[in-house]
Amino acid sequence: MSWLRTHTCGDLTKEMVNQEVVLNGWVSSRRDLGGVIFIDLRDRYGITQVVFDESNKELHKEAEDLRSEYVIGIKGKVLLRDEETINPAMKTGDIEIEVSELNIYSEAQTPPFEIKDGIATNEDTRLKYRYLDLRRQEMQKNLILRSNLYHTVRSFYHSNNFSEIETPVLMKSTPEGARDYLVPSRVNAGKFFALPQSPQTYKQLLMVSGMDRYFQIVKCFRDEDLRADRQPEFTQIDVEMSFVDEEQIYRTHEELMAVIWKEHMNVEVQTPFPRITYKEAMETYGSDKPDTRFGMTIKKLSDLLGDCGFKIFESTVKKGGQIVSITVPGKGDLGRGALDRLTEDVKRETGAAGLIYIKVSDEEHFCSVGKFLTDTKVEEMVKRSEAEDGDLVLILAGPEPDVFKQMGTLRLMMGKELELIDTAAYNFLWVTDFPLVEWDKEEKRYVSLHHPFTSPKEEDIDSLEESPENANARGYDLVLNGSEIGGGSIRIHNSELQSKMFRVLGIGEEEAREKFGFLLDAFTYGAPPHGGIAFGLDRIVMIMAGAGSLRDVIAFPKNQRAQSTMDGAPDTVDEKQLRELHIKLRDNN
Ligand code: AMO
Repeated sequence: MSWLRTHTCGDLTKEMVNQEVVLNGWVSSRRDLGGVIFIDLRDRYGITQVVFDESNKELHKEAEDLRSEYVIGIKGKVLLRDEETINPAMKTGDIEIEVSELNIYSEAQTPPFEIKDGIATNEDTRLKYRYLDLRRQEMQKNLILRSNLYHTVRSFYHSNNFSEIETPVLMKSTPEGARDYLVPSRVNAGKFFALPQSPQTYKQLLMVSGMDRYFQIVKCFRDEDLRADRQPEFTQIDVEMSFVDEEQIYRTHEELMAVIWKEHMNVEVQTPFPRITYKEAMETYGSDKPDTRFGMTIKKLSDLLGDCGFKIFESTVKKGGQIVSITVPGKGDLGRGALDRLTEDVKRETGAAGLIYIKVSDEEHFCSVGKFLTDTKVEEMVKRSEAEDGDLVLILAGPEPDVFKQMGTLRLMMGKELELIDTAAYNFLWVTDFPLVEWDKEEKRYVSLHHPFTSPKEEDIDSLEESPENANARGYDLVLNGSEIGGGSIRIHNSELQSKMFRVLGIGEEEAREKFGFLLDAFTYGAPPHGGIAFGLDRIVMIMAGAGSLRDVIAFPKNQRAQSTMDGAPDTVDEKQLRELHIKLRDNN
């Protein structure tokens, strides 16, 4: 029989001295100090020291058998600790419990890793024994932060007149750029549901239904290559609003972020958030999700170097490419070896063909390709790069947009290496004016940068079919510290423009009807202008928790191979199940 606790392991302070209490929890550690046995008893709320002295021989003997992670209940009296054993770092550090009765609820094997913060155990082991990993305080803290965040998000939207509406998990595929997870239908032979990559079409249909303001904290599924900030199933805060423009969406969500940061981080974030266009972001930071916590912005040198005498620069300019630089402060003293290593790193990490540098000096600059350039040209490049005595100018040349992306990667490498990033800062930034489409070399067609439901800018609608590549979208991303935490757009709300958009994307009329007929039809029955956004909740919690991976803020995540090593998913299924689903596996599987 288990005992009902009177307090948790995080409750008791010196105000409760002499009270009789009952505590339940896990044995975090056991110390036997010759006669007196000390147990740190742990639960989600904290740790309390409990003491078995020798006065009760039988009880003391039982305590000798206690091991780490046994689950026990104790009854006893709260006592003040001796002066020298008081631990001011713990809430319960002033007291200990003199145990009078012990109840062992369950014994425990030695866990495969220590249940404590900051362990160096490899992640696969942690994931295999996730239920033990989640006993660790730092993991519990992350899950509790996440739980509290749901609460804030829900109350924010409810108090702003949004309705929380669930949308189907078994649906027809919506293209968001990744592959779908498919679910075979038993009752409809040969047919498949797709798990939502996002509830995009449903939330738009809810606007057609007149729901006006929708939100949902919702699981999304994408079969894509995994990275530290990507999971195959992840959670969005998904939002759609009718009769709005970009400004209202920005304002509402700046307020949401300010409330979240105030409530959970005790940080006042400045609103409105700064904005940057996609083009400016690419050309200044080499990224559509710029980390603005440090400078080292990109400078364009091409106009200086068209006929400078150095072949690589000249041919880059002739081919319409760009020569770009960043200035690394105070690193003009790097030696040849370090610069050679840096060049190799740059080639490997960014895919650039090579790296050119100038060590800036008040006496004489040293340029790695100086023998091909006049001193005046080198001086002009230094000036444009806003470099000063002792700085290092790094230069890349190549086609657009690759060269900007490469420089963006190099900028981040240098920012991290030189510890220029203010880790206490939270820099929110709207990225706006995305191109509507981009050319997909493999598929040989235009693809949406956001998704096919994003509206083009008003002024680009007429010329959409003639020059899609010049059209801008009414799309926006919210970026925080170099991470894309949200994205959305003002949508197309009439079927004619939506059909035109499908044509631009090379989706024929028949295919469009087959895939999206329901949406096109819905738009013919009176659709309000609408727009929305979705935030990556896991990414937001990851940044708030200062975690290095999404996996640290998800209770049961998948590993880098999209597997759950704990329960062995995905797994084979038996022939009977396959037959019921009308599925025959191919031989090469
Ligand atoms: P988008 O595809 O930009 O937009 O997704 C919105 C946000 O979700 C997060 N995110 C992810 N987080 C973890 N793992 C992933 N694999 C992953 N993929 C995306 C990102 C991203 O900004 N329907 C549109 C939204 C809209 O237009 O309203 C959509 O899903 O933080």
